[in-house]
Amino acid sequence: MKIYKKIKSIQSYLRKVASDGIKIGFVPTMGYLHEGHLSLVDRSLKNCDHTVVSVYVNPMQFAPNEDLARYPRDLKRDLKLLRERGVDTVFLPNNSEMYPDGFDTYVSVGSITKIGEGVSRPTHFNGVTTIVLKLLNTVRTDILYLGQKDIQQALVIKKMVKDLNMPVKVEICPTVRERDGLALSSRNVYLSNELRNNALSLISALKTGEKAIRYGIIRCAAIERRMRSKFGEFKGMKLDYILFADVKTFKPVKSITGRTVIAIAGFAGRTRLIDNIIVNPGVR
Ligand code: PAF
Repeated sequence: MKIYKKIKSIQSYLRKVASDGIKIGFVPTMGYLHEGHLSLVDRSLKNCDHTVVSVYVNPMQFAPNEDLARYPRDLKRDLKLLRERGVDTVFLPNNSEMYPDGFDTYVSVGSITKIGEGVSRPTHFNGVTTIVLKLLNTVRTDILYLGQKDIQQALVIKKMVKDLNMPVKVEICPTVRERDGLALSSRNVYLSNELRNNALSLISALKTGEKAIRYGIIRCAAIERRMRSKFGEFKGMKLDYILFADVKTFKPVKSITGRTVIAIAGFAGRTRLIDNIIVNPGVR
């Protein structure tokens, strides 16, 4: 497994790799890897000839009041997992490599970033799209693998790729969950046993929404009422939002008439968690 820390060196290495007609798959991460990340890695290893993974905690996507300083890190373990999996190349830049002195260019996607996560974290998506564009310019991938767990992020990146005519295919892969339904997230490490139990409020509310749709309820307001009530059964949780949005455009919808994302965000203590499911009223 090759490890690069400098943009220029990985660029010139991958230029040589790609010139042999090799298909490159790329999994960008902020490290502290779990089976969710590794499922993206596996998908790339299966479908591409060369898999690149980046590990970089991007400060630009954290607001000053967020958890950048305490964001979990364990590079030694991450590298061991990636080596065992059979990853070809790892990119490990530092802050001065990604944001050298004088850096002053930002990528901003429009209306899709102003709802959901964009309301609660107004500067977040600019940080994500700026770093992902820089990473894509560095890695020159054919396929970019992203997780459904961060579905709005994935759709924002897809929109950027389309609007900027970038020659990259974006693949959104299913959320990986614990046996009891909790979506895997690096931030789960912050949770005490009690908070971890309360965190099941997110998937429980989502399942309540799914069930309501199975029973034929299609008005989002009515579905949301049921979901809020389920969420409220978990003490000590604070709901941030529930959002119903079109699965391709992430435009909010008022009733479920086609494939729709139900997204939810809430706080378990100080830890902010997100989750989502895709529902389809036609499928029972
Ligand atoms: O989802 C993440 O881990 C990050 O937002 C990403 C895509 C690696 C950009 O920093």
